[in-house]
Amino acid sequence: MSEESASEPEIHKGLAGVVVDATAISSVNPATNSLLYRGYPVQELAASCSFEEVAYLLWHGELPDGDALRAFEAAEREQRALPQNVRRAIDDIPTSAHPMDVLRTAVSVIGADDADGAFGALPSPFETVYPKALRLTAQLPSIVAYDQRRRHGMPLLEPRDDLDFASNFLYMTFGEVPEAVVADAFRVSLVLYAEHSFNASTFTARVIASTLSDVYSAVTGAIGALKGPLHGGANEAVMVAFEEIGTAENAERWLDDALAARRKVMGFGHRVYKNGDSRVPTMRDALGRLAEHYDRPDVLELYTALEQAMDARKGIKPNLDYPSGPAYHLMGFDTPTFTPIFAAARVTGWTAHVVEQLESNSLIRPLSTYVGPPERHLS
Ligand code: COA
Repeated sequence: MSEESASEPEIHKGLAGVVVDATAISSVNPATNSLLYRGYPVQELAASCSFEEVAYLLWHGELPDGDALRAFEAAEREQRALPQNVRRAIDDIPTSAHPMDVLRTAVSVIGADDADGAFGALPSPFETVYPKALRLTAQLPSIVAYDQRRRHGMPLLEPRDDLDFASNFLYMTFGEVPEAVVADAFRVSLVLYAEHSFNASTFTARVIASTLSDVYSAVTGAIGALKGPLHGGANEAVMVAFEEIGTAENAERWLDDALAARRKVMGFGHRVYKNGDSRVPTMRDALGRLAEHYDRPDVLELYTALEQAMDARKGIKPNLDYPSGPAYHLMGFDTPTFTPIFAAARVTGWTAHVVEQLESNSLIRPLSTYVGPPERHLS
């Protein structure tokens, strides 16, 4: 029996197929295999917009004009430097910790330092959340980059305010201004990762916002949800699988073994898209340009062999994590850093959803069916 109803309710495991609210931020359309951010196809945004323009679009609902973009870029660039207390907190975490744990902790520290963290402090949700969202977006790359560097015994690099978001992220990680083809592929991945409607981490952020907690708690919770391999953690898991497989010739045998052991093959399948993820062709093209740039045709051969074998065996198509994992590997990121990069892009979508949730808030509190022991008594 359900908690509050005498009739036998239908259970929607994983909330599959349940529409829980309306959103104006993005639309995922499996029938047309499309993804729109505020009405714009994500492929068009990835072809011609900077990550900053896309972040502005998600938060403001419209693309910026020239003046608005310049002001936005200046505000983002001036907040990139890692605060001392955040740096100290990171230094206290063992380098063996997963980078998503480091990121989650660092966001908590940023939040604990913001005395005005609570929702409702200012007249509108946008005014309350937006400055914090911008600050987090500016600082997440500094955290992710520093964490990778310290694991290699390298010092923190200060941000460069003459570089855009994507190029500065790469510069702070690797210490060199990236070549155009690399910076562009990275920008494309960030645009594609920025938003995806009511996915698990965004829904987590909305649940936390619905209690009128604070934006840092919402982002911290979202990072925790994203870490799992059924969600953002899949991009790391793809690379682990590629390393296990080794070369294209081994792909079919590896897949047969994995399926026989009833293992999920990470980077394939999607709760909403059942006939291919609309973001994959754009990221697959970016991966192709990187493979050519680094002279690594073997990566593409393995990519194609596993994709074809999975299609033949199960008819299941890749999701965005499938091309993005090997793309980040070619760029030089450590495998455990892949999901934090996803978080550094998705923080824009999470915070746009926090604003939207607060603008017409209702506490998110579903029901459940009780299946435990019937009522009993101590004596
Ligand atoms: N590898 C192997 N089998 C898969 C699979 C995968 N990646 N994705 C789905 N399937 C199979 C399931 O085993 C199940 O088969 P069954 O009916 O014989 O038991 C069927 O397809 C339905 O899968 P299910 O997990 O119930 O669908 P879902 O909508 O709940 O799952 C995902 C969606 C994303 C959780 C799932 O596809 C998955 O685990 N993918 C791998 C993780 C991943 O890449 N996540 C990133 C998503 S963007």
